[in-house]
Amino acid sequence: MEIVAAADSDERGLTLLRVVSQLQRVIVYLHSFACDRGHLWSTQSADARRTPIMSDEQICKKVKEICEELILSQENLKEVCDVLHEELNKGLGKDTNPEAPIKCFPTYVRELPNGKEKGRFLALDLGGTNFRVLLIQLGEECSMDSRIYAVPQPIMVGSGDGLFDHIADCLASFIKERDLGEELLPLGFTFSFPCKQEGLTKARLARWTKGFKCAGVEGRDVVELLKAAIARRGDVKIKICAVLNDTTGTLMSCAWKNHNCRIGLIVGTGTNACYMEKLEKVELWDGELDEPHQDDSHVEVKGVIINTEWGAFGDNGCLDFIRTEYDNNIDRESINPGRQLYEKMISGMYMGEIARQVIIRLVAEGLLFGGQSSEILEEKGSFFTKYISEIESDKDGDYNNCRVILEELGLNSATDTDCANVRHVCECVSRRAAYLAASGVAVLLNRIQEESVTVAVDGSVYRFHPHFHNLMTEQISQLIKPGMKFSLMLSEDGSGRGAALVAAVASRSSR
Ligand code: BGC
Repeated sequence: MEIVAAADSDERGLTLLRVVSQLQRVIVYLHSFACDRGHLWSTQSADARRTPIMSDEQICKKVKEICEELILSQENLKEVCDVLHEELNKGLGKDTNPEAPIKCFPTYVRELPNGKEKGRFLALDLGGTNFRVLLIQLGEECSMDSRIYAVPQPIMVGSGDGLFDHIADCLASFIKERDLGEELLPLGFTFSFPCKQEGLTKARLARWTKGFKCAGVEGRDVVELLKAAIARRGDVKIKICAVLNDTTGTLMSCAWKNHNCRIGLIVGTGTNACYMEKLEKVELWDGELDEPHQDDSHVEVKGVIINTEWGAFGDNGCLDFIRTEYDNNIDRESINPGRQLYEKMISGMYMGEIARQVIIRLVAEGLLFGGQSSEILEEKGSFFTKYISEIESDKDGDYNNCRVILEELGLNSATDTDCANVRHVCECVSRRAAYLAASGVAVLLNRIQEESVTVAVDGSVYRFHPHFHNLMTEQISQLIKPGMKFSLMLSEDGSGRGAALVAAVASRSSR
């Protein structure tokens, strides 16, 4: 009896299940009917939006379609190379330079180090969110003592005097802490913004980038402004031997031991590259034409390092054929609209925000998190660029980092499909950045036309993204002339050691 009763109740249970499942099918049918007509996400309540009616495969397919505009074809990249080559020519030409977005500033650095430089140097490094003061000992090895000082946001957008007073304060406290007051050490100033150099120790800021906007500095010589701030304090003495861009420092730092190094590249908060160009190609050059003094103590070069300032590539509209709505949004909401458009597609200051914009769109279309956003995700800047590196560091099919990050963003119930799709967005954004940077490097390699060139690279994106190096290497190989060899090499501390080396080379030349 008991067995029969149990069978009966099983039977009833099964019938009930069948009815429920039929009902579910009807509901799914009605949902997809509404969805086809585009009603679903706009008319359903937030709770109903939690139940997407598309299968995971359909969702992934749709996400891929939406992300497609971030994927650059080989033809696109070749075109980017051709246009960049032309834009660099415009920057280097005397008549075309005034209108050219890429300014190609000659740096007045004409000698590369040979590894035998010696001495103690001070360096200042301003260019990202922090400011550093360094004490560098060059010899067989290089040793360094440094301190990082924050640059508070109000100083980044305050008065020029405020910024240089802050730099002078930090320098003075460093000198006092290390008891360096008695020595007049040569100092290299790494100032990583576009500057028109008028000599090794004279650099006029052309314009601010990367979130800085201090009044009264554009058009002025930043070395003079620093000296004036130090004079206002009156308690420290310094001997500024060189002012340089971080790309130059990166090149010099790598060239110290690697004599094939001809290009310095930064992919960090901002992006930029410098390279050794032949003097005859630099119409803008107004310095000495003869070779720098040669002896066996340094490497012979027949040119000058050009700070391309390629971040401004595209500011005249020539990159519009690959820019997307996300790039437009980011530019519009930035502190410098219409400027640094190539930089805004590549560098760490913007990559996270590009990814966030895509994610927000996918949520709005009901393709992520069941259409539910979070307060944090809606905030501009909340998706940090480092998240991209962390998410892409997860092993295939594993979403540990991704989940932790989504939880930080207040998205607690992400499914595996959500994670896979967020990762896809990150990959599209970082791959595009790596390929665009690679196109730039390929153009420079093709111009230099030496058989084997080392590219010195630094910057947080290149350093910390798990695949950036490989993506770049792979793409550069596709874009350079056949038979050329190159390698991308992480350059240790360009802004510190590089600054000391420029100061060392400068003091050698002036002897
Ligand atoms: C600046 C360059 C700098 C680069 C990397 C850009 O925004 O214009 O001068 O080299 O960032 O720091």
